Order: sequence, then structure tokens, then C-alpha cells
Amino acid sequence: MTGTLTRPTQTVTETEVFSCPEESHFYSHCLERLVFSQCTDARLIVEFGSGDGSPVINSLMRAASQIPEGSRCKDVIHGFELNPSAYDVAKSRVDQCELHDRYVLHNKSFFDAAPKDAHCLIANPPYIPAPDNQIRMPLLHGGFDGATLTNRLLTLNYPSVMVLVSSYSNPLGTLECAAEQGYVVTDFMVTPLQFGYYSSEPKVRNWIEKLRENGQAFYSDNIYFLAGVLFQHSSIASVDLTDELVQVMTAL
Ligand SMILES: C[S@@+](CC[C@H](N)C(=O)[O-])C[C@H]1O[C@@H](n2cnc3c(N)ncnc32)[C@H](O)[C@@H]1O
Repeated sequence: MTGTLTRPTQTVTETEVFSCPEESHFYSHCLERLVFSQCTDARLIVEFGSGDGSPVINSLMRAASQIPEGSRCKDVIHGFELNPSAYDVAKSRVDQCELHDRYVLHNKSFFDAAPKDAHCLIANPPYIPAPDNQIRMPLLHGGFDGATLTNRLLTLNYPSVMVLVSSYSNPLGTLECAAEQGYVVTDFMVTPLQFGYYSSEPKVRNWIEKLRENGQAFYSDNIYFLAGVLFQHSSIASVDLTDELVQVMTAL
């Protein structure tokens, strides 16, 4: 990892690696409960934005220590990460943990290189809303409302998509987009988070306030909600929890 992160006063360079331990741990637990616990077959899973690789690596390592081999998931995950510094860190962690046969990393844009025939897409996508990408970490820019990349991931026609959705990044727009693409919400997990290093940048915080005035951001003085959402094509879904998720994400 290049440099060390401290809270709001520090400057971050282009090659900085995303660092928000609370968020990455939550993503890791969502992967475990919403994706990896679902089967024992060897499915192909693709990941948008692997970062330093720790969320997937930690889930796989926890499964290896807690679940007997016969009932353990054997999914193979192909992770795509655009930032070369993050890719290098992730690659060396995979080597260290001897997980090359389970987690294959690519230093490429997901949109250029990801296989189209995967069973499931997973991501903690860039969701920082801002008028342009001149923010602390440009690769975290999620477009005007923060949901642009997330919504694009929902147009790629993977049967299942597990993505983190933030309550300040137009969550209702994402749920609408998912429905238009034929997805329903079949499971979710939610955690409260405090505004962190990237979302506390004044330019971003002021923009989020504008989104709230437009009914596109939901948060309190202290927290926002981050949800791990499992979307599945309605043809393979057994339940639709979209209304329940709307209630939670708009509660603040
Ligand atoms: C919010 S971070 C998540 C990192 C990691 N998954 C985690 O949860 O700790 C989003 C990541 O997406 C990467 N990214 C942005 N655009 C990308 C693209 N087009 N293809 C692949 N990765 C991309 C960023 O560099 C960043 O590392």
C-alpha cells in the first residue's frame, strides 16, 4: 500500500490504494453470507474493483478455517482492478495466502476485460457522488449521484449481482434501475457507517447535501447506511425484498 491514511487533513495521490477498513470488512462479511455460503459448486464469479484484495481473501481464509472441506464453496473469483498499486498489493497477498487457484487478479478495467458468462458479479463499487472526478481519490467517483457505476454494473446481465449500495448515493435510483433490468432483491445486510475520509471532503459533503434536497440521499448528522444487496434475475428468485430495503435505506 502506498502511503498511510489518516483522517480528513491528509492528501492522497492518484496511486493511493483505497483504505476504509470498516467498509472492506463489511463487504467481506456480505460476500460470505450472501454469495459464498450459497453453494458448494465451483462457480465463476467476477469482481469489479478488487482494491487490496483483502475482502475476498479474508472470506476465503475464514471459510478454510471454519468449514469442513467437503461442504466448502469452491467458487473461482476473477478480480479486476484498474489501480496498479492496489493490484500489486492484492497480487502479493494472494501469493502469500496461496489462493491463486481461487482468486485470479487482473490489472485491467472490468468493463474491458471481465468474462460475460460468470454466474455472479460482486463489487464494492466507487460510489462517491460529486459533480466531477476531481476528488480525493478520482477512481472512487460514482458519477453525479454516486450510483452511475453501480447502475452500469446492473446492465451487464449477470444472473446474480451482489453490490454495496450507499444511502447517500441515490439508492432509489439503483433499485429502479435494477427493476428495469429484471432484477429483484433476494437478500441484504445493512450497517450504519460514519462519514469517512473520502465522503467527508467538503466538496463531496456539500454535493451530498444537494442530493438530499432532491430526495437522492438519506443520512443523519452521525451516520449513513451501507447495504450489501443481492440482486437476482426474477426468473431465479424465490422472494422479492425490494420494498423492505427501500424502507431501511430511506429511514434516516
Ligand atoms: C470502493 S473501492 C473497493 C475496493 C475493495 N473491493 C474493498 O472493498 O476494499 C473501489 C475500487 O474499484 C476500482 N476501480 C474503479 N474503476 C474501475 C474499473 N473500471 N475497473 C476495475 N476497477 C476499478 C478502484 O480503483 C477501487 O480500488
